[in-house]
Amino acid sequence: MAAEATSRGLTPGHVYNGQRPLRYGPLPDRIRHRFPIFDQRVYINSCSQGALSDSVRDAYERYLADWDEKGAPWEYWVERQEAARASFAGLVNADPDEVAVTTSLSAGVSSLASGLRFARRSKVVLTDWEFPTIGQIWHAQEARGARVVHVPAAEDGTLPFAGFERAIDDDTLLVSITHVCYRNGAMVDVDKVVQLAHERGAYVLLDAFQSIGSLPVDVKELGVDFLGAGVLKYLLGSAGLGFLYCRRELVEKVWPTATGWFADRNIFEMDHSDYSPATTASRFQSGTPPVPAIYAGIAGMELMKEIGIAETREHVLELNSRLIEGLDELKARLVTPRKPKRRGALICVRSTDSHALVDALAREGIVTSERDGNLRISAHAYNSVEDVDAVLASLRRHRRLLASA
Ligand SMILES: Cc1ncc(COP(=O)(O)O)c(C=O)c1O
Repeated sequence: MAAEATSRGLTPGHVYNGQRPLRYGPLPDRIRHRFPIFDQRVYINSCSQGALSDSVRDAYERYLADWDEKGAPWEYWVERQEAARASFAGLVNADPDEVAVTTSLSAGVSSLASGLRFARRSKVVLTDWEFPTIGQIWHAQEARGARVVHVPAAEDGTLPFAGFERAIDDDTLLVSITHVCYRNGAMVDVDKVVQLAHERGAYVLLDAFQSIGSLPVDVKELGVDFLGAGVLKYLLGSAGLGFLYCRRELVEKVWPTATGWFADRNIFEMDHSDYSPATTASRFQSGTPPVPAIYAGIAGMELMKEIGIAETREHVLELNSRLIEGLDELKARLVTPRKPKRRGALICVRSTDSHALVDALAREGIVTSERDGNLRISAHAYNSVEDVDAVLASLRRHRRLLASA
């Protein structure tokens, strides 16, 4: 296999455990065998968590083996943290110095929030599409002088741009937006929001948890100032690892007070006599890094890079147009925007009893999830046309649990 890969111009590094290279042939055929869950179920729930791959399982086993064989190899584990930072930085086109390795998206955003001052500009603008953690973190800053304003969603669930025009003003310090909404799958027009925010002197934080790994995310192209994400969904990692990107020019303007020794300028100095945060985005870190999740996260991110994120996006858009067609035939009420540019990988459909619908699908071996009365169907690189057809066939059987268009 290695010889075959090399003769095709790939390095042997592209061959996993003697298996065939992942970059050839159509999705999902060339990768599906790496995800054992498909032997048992139709897994179409990557908005909750990515499917477990053989390489992520092996990464966890490697962590245990390293612990067994080496005892407490902290220098190596700190190096693994740097590898995770570099892997994520490569993914979003940032410099590793602009990336903090955190234990969750919330941890990174909380550290950022703790470092902002609300004296000269006091307003934080967020939207009705945010994940709870974002609303909670920014409202917590009200005790520190922040004024939090929501851009409201319209009756039909959309987020009219006029709401941003009204809310963002010369008192706005930060605009906090989610890239893809976890409740309806809609994608914000980041370019437009960034342009308006910057024109009015405000920074932009993008919560990219529901987009990263499912479509190309480039911080330079998007022009965002901060970006938070985690690896357990479309990046195929597990719980316990997140990242915060901070544009280089801003790093030293933020002085986090939620901190810890892995945020220090020199963690090996073990200096407890002062607070001297790193001059890089490491200043948004806290305590001991999540070493097991780092092993898994690196494996997941590298696997997604190898599969190809741009190709995954195209593949999932095709699956989703078939899904939407089928939902239309069922006269179901689609909650996600129809325009491909305005949605992520997640498709949401209104249910009369979303818990019962998720359970009914589960009884037929199909794993989905629900939020806010909507069924969530989220395909990824490993999902097939047959998976989509299986979902549609099951929905036809349980049509009474779908709201009508
Ligand atoms: C859009 C979005 N933001 C944030 C989170 C939560 O991130 P964390 O638990 O890492 O803080 C999630 C998790 O589902 C999410 O979907």
